[in-house]
Amino acid sequence: MNFQLSDEQQMLRKMVAEFAKKEVEPTAAERDEEERFDREIFHKLAELGLTGIPWPEAYGGIGADYMSYVITVEELSRVCASTGVTLSAHVSLASWPIYKYGNEEQKKNFLTRLATGEALGAYALSEPGAGSDVVSMKTTAKEEADHFVLNGNKVWITNGGVADIYIVFAKTDADKQHKGISAFIVEKGTKGFTFGKKEKKLGIRSSPTTELVFENCRVPKENLLGSEGEGFKIAMSTLDGGRNGIAAQALGIAQGALDAAAAYAKEREQFGKPIAHNQGISFKLADMATEIEAARLLTYQAAWLESEGQPYGKASAMSKLFAGDAAMRISVEAVQIFGGYGYTKDYPVERFMRDAKITQIYEGTNEIQRLVIGRMITSGK
Ligand code: CAA
Ligand code: FAD
Repeated sequence: MNFQLSDEQQMLRKMVAEFAKKEVEPTAAERDEEERFDREIFHKLAELGLTGIPWPEAYGGIGADYMSYVITVEELSRVCASTGVTLSAHVSLASWPIYKYGNEEQKKNFLTRLATGEALGAYALSEPGAGSDVVSMKTTAKEEADHFVLNGNKVWITNGGVADIYIVFAKTDADKQHKGISAFIVEKGTKGFTFGKKEKKLGIRSSPTTELVFENCRVPKENLLGSEGEGFKIAMSTLDGGRNGIAAQALGIAQGALDAAAAYAKEREQFGKPIAHNQGISFKLADMATEIEAARLLTYQAAWLESEGQPYGKASAMSKLFAGDAAMRISVEAVQIFGGYGYTKDYPVERFMRDAKITQIYEGTNEIQRLVIGRMITSGK
């Protein structure tokens, strides 16, 4: 087993870390406070080729592997988890299903625009009454002549409103349960497709989370992704990889919290010595660092399995479960190490703590990850 990153992966990590420090971190607190999405950061990610990391050059990507992708999400999230999820939703959730299930025309058009960063992507599965229970979705798509007519609402959509290309799931046959769900590529500006409520959130506040409204929205038949009735499989297999992107986001948040807490513990003096010299604090730092390493190994393992073409769904669910829970615990401990200062907006640890919480909720709550892992174990997968 080789735990060493390749020269290319190490160079990429250095490049992304420098970019994150220079271009993302300086405005992270302000964007969080103002709940402001900054498209300029996405443009700069595109200039570096990061919006299309794992896709072939023929479709506008840079042909790197999934490990390079998770390292990128990790390094961005180390300073700003909102930027991390913007990229994760764009690559894992919007671009991946087109790469995997799209026909040549769809790849040339939509995937290329996403990979080059000309377009930003989003993934619309959840509904007001259908979060964990995806199959109970109500949005319908009715076939008519040369198009499908979509009606319904999607909620909680990351990059909603600012994205240009949406992967939307709807029922083409309500009687067939999961086999009656289909996937569509819907472009912003399509008649009958509008945006509803923008959520006011606890964390990842510079990542917009918005409702999508479909009212007799006509989507051309050529925008059907995969075959009719294949939507649930497309949705689930997309999440298999997407969950590893969220693990990378959680890992970055946890590492950012540890970096800040360790630096503060060395510098802050009480009782005539740095607080780090108390075993009570150094043991916290040791536990935080150990959990981060375990989360990193799980996250990188799932990315490696995907790059190698091996089954990765269970490993990805495990990485999201463990890294999400770890990020929550670690960011709470970081606030504790900062004492009263940690509770203020003078330091970034309160933001890390607020941002960490979402990693236990989205792309399937951590209860759902346990359900997925449990089913795979008992079915021998
Ligand atoms: N890949 C391919 N097929 C799959 C699959 C997978 N990963 N998982 C299940 N399937 C197939 C099953 O094999 C089964 O097929 P057959 O009937 O042909 O055998 C079929 O799909 C139905 O599977 P289940 O019986 O397991 O379906 P279920 O209704 O019990 O639901 C679930 C399973 C795991 C709970 C699923 O509904 C789920 O993942 N829920 C969570 C939803 C979620 O993660 N939402 C995330 C939204 S995106 C987001 O949040 C974005 C963001 O943060 C940025
Ligand atoms: P519910 O499904 O109602 O769950 C409520 C509680 O019950 C949870 O604790 C859950 O774990 C538990 N529970 C439910 N079923 C079970 C069970 N069988 N066993 C044990 N416990 C169970 N969705 C998208 O489609 N695209 C996006 O881009 C997107 N981005 C999001 C961004 C944010 C900021 C948020 C908050 C959500 C986003 N979501 C997105 C939706 C997200 O995936 C859902 O919120 C999540 O899947 C949970 O669904 P729910 O909120 O309806 O909770």
